[in-house]
Amino acid sequence: MKILGISAHYHDSAAALVVDGVPVCAVQEERLSRRKNDAAFPLAAIEWCLERGGVEPAALDAVVFYERPMLKFDRILTCALRAFPQSWRSFPHAMRSSLGEKVWVRGIISSYLDVPAKKILFTRHHQSHAAAAFLTAPTRRAAILTTDGVGEWATLTVGRGERHDDGSAAITLLREIRYPHSLGMLYSTFTAYLGFSVNEDEYKVMGLAAYGRPTMVDKVRRLIRSTPDGAFALDLDYFDFHTTAARSFSSRFVDVFGPPRNRYESIDLDTDEGQRFADCAASVQRVLEDTLIGIARMLHAETGLSDLCLGGGVALNGVANARVLAEAGFERVFVPPAPGDAGCALGAALYTDRIHFRNPDREVPDHPFWGPDVSGTELARVAQEDGQRVDRFDDDALIDGIADDLASGRVVGWMDGALELGPRALGHRSILASPASREMRDRLNRDIKFRDEFRPFAPVVPSPVADRYFELPPGGARLARFMSGVFNVRPEWRERLGAITHVDGTARVQALDREMAPRLYALLEAYGRRTGVPVLLNTSFNLSGEPIVNRAVEGYSTFLRCGIDVLVAGDTRVLKRTSVLASRVES
Ligand SMILES: [Fe+2]
Repeated sequence: MKILGISAHYHDSAAALVVDGVPVCAVQEERLSRRKNDAAFPLAAIEWCLERGGVEPAALDAVVFYERPMLKFDRILTCALRAFPQSWRSFPHAMRSSLGEKVWVRGIISSYLDVPAKKILFTRHHQSHAAAAFLTAPTRRAAILTTDGVGEWATLTVGRGERHDDGSAAITLLREIRYPHSLGMLYSTFTAYLGFSVNEDEYKVMGLAAYGRPTMVDKVRRLIRSTPDGAFALDLDYFDFHTTAARSFSSRFVDVFGPPRNRYESIDLDTDEGQRFADCAASVQRVLEDTLIGIARMLHAETGLSDLCLGGGVALNGVANARVLAEAGFERVFVPPAPGDAGCALGAALYTDRIHFRNPDREVPDHPFWGPDVSGTELARVAQEDGQRVDRFDDDALIDGIADDLASGRVVGWMDGALELGPRALGHRSILASPASREMRDRLNRDIKFRDEFRPFAPVVPSPVADRYFELPPGGARLARFMSGVFNVRPEWRERLGAITHVDGTARVQALDREMAPRLYALLEAYGRRTGVPVLLNTSFNLSGEPIVNRAVEGYSTFLRCGIDVLVAGDTRVLKRTSVLASRVES
């Protein structure tokens, strides 16, 4: 059975193809269109998936959209009417955009793909999140907790997933919290207040939180109160997101927390104002963590299960995930590489296969590499045409050479195999560098990523030795498989791992198993033989504001525009000749 999953129209569109119960490929539209967080209907991603899978649209058994557009429309309409008259300005806009292509998804899919309407199915948004979390995780039964900004109505669901002995799978969502009461929206409101981009920069709030103290927890708790059933409710007087798209927080919010940050001014942590913003970030982060832990604890007590699958965009918060693992009572916590809406394309397809069609459960390969392959030949051609020095090696020689480069302080753009699904580079489209010094961190921020300095870089380490450098609790290595948890760097290593140790002594670790990315694993070993420490700094291969690179030519373009010294795709290595750039500027 061939099922195409699609997510679109909110942010981060994607497509995924599942054949006979197993994912064949999946890719985010932004990686092909080169527009960051591209929310358009993902035509390029769909086309690539069908071509990659060798599937004609007519041969598809189902095309599944990751949410129910009419329910979402119902939510938008209801909220606009409830908020009237405050919403009268935003109402026409909301109606126009909802009445446009967002509601007529079936017609769009049918016309683009020439698929009969009866083959077009819909899952609920949080069913897609739950399926992306549970059906990709190597566990037979687990509690499920999904949290995001909002889908149709639900913003948080709790439930359980089970793989039965007869080969069937079940996902039961027991309860939900409904819009406008939303942990994701609470966090996004602070994201906007702190001058960052909503739905994109939430991780900057988490990074900033490490510089602050949670001195305003009581104030944040005025905004979100616990309800007797263990859930929560927002005090809507502090918010405006539910009445207008133009503003997230109300004047009452500003009365409590002070003036918002001007997004065009940088945060100076040496000033009272800068510290206030950091404290604000630390406070909302703490409340988010405590709320999630409370709900996860209840879910643990209720289900008695030892595994928990987390889904939804909030599951990208690695600090919260690590605390849930440590404090909620579960032995293992699984977070997929793409817990946000992009991963819903895959989740919707898997949900349809297992639950709607009741097909037998199949093991889903435990990795994030579902996108297009990179070609060393393409890199060699492009770089040679451009007058660069290009070398092609067998595997051992290439890895030895790159380990030498890294040990001598060079920064490496590393492209290998299939592109990752999800926001994190997990070893196939990464910028790699020595993790040893703070100077390297500053150099990467200044010359390569062109970004705010308070955001930390992540380390990658072979899983068997991760515990030597990082304080991984039981179950921590699993959470670190896809870089989903933030853990302490062991105090004795913090100085020697200065480029990846955050100001609070933590790091967002990727603990790599050899079989997931064998060439990167071999590189870590080779680097370890040279330096004594098999740890590398691993950051996504993109410049600030751009999507992660996909093809070799995009890697090459990025390489030319920043301070990366060496570029690798497959068997091909390009060493930057600084004179090439200089002569180009002169001509
Ligand atoms: Fe979502």
